[in-house]
Amino acid sequence: MILTAENLIKEFSTPRKVLRILDGVSFSVSAGESVAITGPSGSGKSSLLGLLAGLDRPTEGRVLFKGQALADMGEDGLSAWRRNCVGFVFQNFELVSSLTALENAALPLEILGTSTRDAAATAGNALETLGMSSRADHFPNELSGGEQQRVAIARAYVHQPEIIFADEPTGSLDEETAESVVKALLQVNEERKTALLLVTHNPDLAGRLDRVLTIHGGSVA
Ligand SMILES: Nc1ncnc2c1ncn2[C@@H]1O[C@H](COP(=O)(O)OP(=O)(O)OP(=O)(O)O)[C@@H](O)[C@H]1O
Ligand SMILES: [Mg+2]
Repeated sequence: MILTAENLIKEFSTPRKVLRILDGVSFSVSAGESVAITGPSGSGKSSLLGLLAGLDRPTEGRVLFKGQALADMGEDGLSAWRRNCVGFVFQNFELVSSLTALENAALPLEILGTSTRDAAATAGNALETLGMSSRADHFPNELSGGEQQRVAIARAYVHQPEIIFADEPTGSLDEETAESVVKALLQVNEERKTALLLVTHNPDLAGRLDRVLTIHGGSVA
């Protein structure tokens, strides 16, 4: 197993009460597997993805990567794991506003010490695959939502992570562009055996992945 969620509980404290969003979520993902996560708005999909990627900590329970608990990696170990092994497409993209599309897409490689030239070449190829070559030197505020989304997707896989988490990666895209993005993600999944955990509201898209998990009432089925 590449990733295991063990009895995950996530609570948020609000001024009036404690909200239990995830109430004992357990499942495993094998290397190279593609898994869709679906469920109603507010059911905890983004929260779950954040826990699985080590961006946030569960109230109880554990996440294991190849048998090692994220909680046991230490801050530096966890950061190194995220840099090397994880790609993440945020629901709101989270591009760096002061960097161009190309620089944003190249960022994971730059952080890993790849030369600027090689990083730009790899990121440029990814942007081309996603139909974004003509916008490579635009800043995020000069890009449409769908264009920003495609830069965020390029950034999630340029460094050849072992697992990609994608939070509604086609949410801002028209049908045709969504198809090219899905193809790119599935191609990475197939060719590099990169595990893919993808949140989507689209049943057709979910059906194209190996397995569908549905979150409802804090549990996954
Ligand atoms: N920091 C927080 N503090 C309090 N409540 C939060 C916090 N983050 C999320 N929540 C609540 O947790 C619930 C789950 O949120 P989450 O973003 O995981 O849902 P989601 O399934 O991704 O929804 P969507 O499909 O709309 O993106 C929501 O009711 C939300 O209001
Ligand atoms: Mg969400």
